[in-house]
Amino acid sequence: MRSLFLALVVVGAFAASAASASRIILPGTTPSSAQRYQQWMAQHGKAYKDAAEKAHRFEIFKSNMEHVERFNAGKHKYWLGLNQFSDLTNDEFVGLYTGYKRPASKFNSPKTSFRYENVSVAAVAATVDWRKRGAVTPVKNQGQCESCWAFSAVAATEGINKIKRGKLVSLSEQELVDCDVNGEDDGCKGGYMEDAFKFIINNGGIDTERNYPYDAAAGSCNSKKEADRAVDITGFEIVPENSESALLKAVSGQPVSVSVDAGGNFQHYKGGIFAGPCGTKLNHGVTVVGYDADEDGTKYWLVKNSWGTGWGEKGYIRMERGIDGVKGLCGIAMDASYPTIN
Ligand SMILES: *[C@@H]1O[C@H](CO)[C@@H](O)[C@H](O)[C@H]1NC(C)=O
Repeated sequence: MRSLFLALVVVGAFAASAASASRIILPGTTPSSAQRYQQWMAQHGKAYKDAAEKAHRFEIFKSNMEHVERFNAGKHKYWLGLNQFSDLTNDEFVGLYTGYKRPASKFNSPKTSFRYENVSVAAVAATVDWRKRGAVTPVKNQGQCESCWAFSAVAATEGINKIKRGKLVSLSEQELVDCDVNGEDDGCKGGYMEDAFKFIINNGGIDTERNYPYDAAAGSCNSKKEADRAVDITGFEIVPENSESALLKAVSGQPVSVSVDAGGNFQHYKGGIFAGPCGTKLNHGVTVVGYDADEDGTKYWLVKNSWGTGWGEKGYIRMERGIDGVKGLCGIAMDASYPTIN
């Protein structure tokens, strides 16, 4: 009797392990994390220098995947997903794919005039989407280069050029990365949107994307292309800081360069209205190209990023607007500016 009981236990255990093994192998069942890693690697064309690196990245991937699944199982205004950044820790990610660097001297920068100061918040359009008015080029990809600042400044410049002159021209981030090197902007090591506007002003314009294309690495300045001034601006202005209503007034008039803290869930954002939590340690430059609210009334900023179309909502993120606290979500209202054409 006793031995029969033991035999049954052994058979039972064997059956259970066989079942869990088949759960891993059979199609149509939940794949193991190792299988998902292989799948993800193939999807994103990932290759690692050796087995140790691959194993190390697998551990990070697993922890990111678990974070994504745990988060998505809860009730939130947004959701996360796997993307090209899923094998990076959050610190690595912020260190490689952002690039906002505000010079120390700019923390007390003199206020500029603000041409939207007398615009009434009550009078601005209820919703704005500069894409629908043809003032936004397709989402670009900064790659592994801390050049967000160039993408943010260029997107705002493309916008005002279309609004003032009627033509949407894709402009050259590479020119800023290569040629805007005599101040504090530093190619793939970070820079500042206001300084990029200053470069464009002083240079008398900026070349087209087509003529001076992006290659995600800092090179020497092509002075011949630098002299091709396809689009110029006459100035730039700073949005009064720590005011989402000032930002609203500015965005009602044109796409605006803003700075955010892109740590935390930004890395894994897949869709919905991003609501943090996030800090206000500004580290990333992006461009607000509109605002709206969803069906249940949650207000948001429509933000163009420069991480390709595989991240977020086809390269965009909707960030909650009108939050408690003057800095805005992730500090979006702390340091915003825009180019002007008189
Ligand atoms: C806003 O209104 C004030 C008072 O009328 C005026 O002095 C100022 O120049 C106006 N600002 C702009 C940008 O038009």
